Amino acid sequence: MKRLLTGLQPSGDLTLGSLIGGIKQSVAYQNEYDSFIFVPDLHAITVPQDPTLLKMRIKKNVALYLACGIDPEKNTIYLQSENLYHTNLSWILECHTYMGEANRMTQFKDKSKNRENVSVGLFTYPILMAADILLYDADFVPVGIDQKQHVELARDIALRFNNKYGDTFTMPEPLIPKVGAKIMDLQHPTKKMSKSDEDVKGILFLLDEEEVLRKKIMAAVTDSDNKVYYDVEAKPGISNLLTIYSCLSNMEMKEVEEKFKDSNYGNLKKEVADLVVETFTNIQKKYQEYMSSGIVDEVLNQGKMKVQEIAKQRFEEVTKKLGLGRY
Ligand code: AMP
Ligand code: TRP
Repeated sequence: MKRLLTGLQPSGDLTLGSLIGGIKQSVAYQNEYDSFIFVPDLHAITVPQDPTLLKMRIKKNVALYLACGIDPEKNTIYLQSENLYHTNLSWILECHTYMGEANRMTQFKDKSKNRENVSVGLFTYPILMAADILLYDADFVPVGIDQKQHVELARDIALRFNNKYGDTFTMPEPLIPKVGAKIMDLQHPTKKMSKSDEDVKGILFLLDEEEVLRKKIMAAVTDSDNKVYYDVEAKPGISNLLTIYSCLSNMEMKEVEEKFKDSNYGNLKKEVADLVVETFTNIQKKYQEYMSSGIVDEVLNQGKMKVQEIAKQRFEEVTKKLGLGRY
């Protein structure tokens, strides 16, 4: 069975973007693949975090994965920081990555742009991500389009390593959703809806209350043309709402366009709001149940034991090939 692996950073509360671009894909694939899903908490500290909030989010995120339909029987679920082989392998991969390659990562350029005191960790972040992937022989890595370049870097590093030391790492392939690869901010529909943004007006958080969700959607920025159809360039706001509807209803974009072709913007927004509220209310109910049971810790303990065992073997193989250590 092919292996699938993905991670969602606990750098902010999960959003509709995380659900559509990340979790939904994993749920769809969990019957088909041996699925690994983890919390990359070490990636979160590449930018400043409040320790208390971070700790809370880690558990919240796992409870949310489960609430969104990630089945703990079918997935291996774990924390990155509980398996030291991630950082150990990351160091080795750093020594096999060229500055030129790391310098080309566009997410670093975006994230470091308006920030003071950018950490070295933010720069080497994609290499830790390569370690996350290569440690477990992942065949497929479902990610949003913004992460595609990082998975490609993991492939380049794997290929270089394999060529130099013999076949070691599996070549991972990114899986990008056709629709919904990029859910946009409702207030700035040409910008990704990002869970770590400070301005939350355009962001739908999975744990937002109904009234808040409705308010944010009804206030979504559109245009003055008042015709509903899909055109990302000319109508980014309306196209984003249509994309959200299409992803949550599992309807093709053509059908969604047909459904709303005679609607005004107010109607479209109301229907999108109803669907988002229905989806999120279901998730929130399950989330509360998981948070008040001991299941999150149980799942993480099981995951930890399993992945440490796998990673140990892989890591020993790597160090042996490199000539590290004594044996
Ligand atoms: P994040 O929630 O930013 O850690 O991302 C988790 C996964 O969801 C990654 O694969 C992202 O590429 C994806 N993702 C995050 N935000 C969005 C978004 N606004 N639209 C689509 N995918 C997203
Ligand atoms: N960098 C990813 C993100 O921000 C999270 C991540 C870390 C990840 N390691 C990974 C995703 C490995 C897939 C595979 O979304």
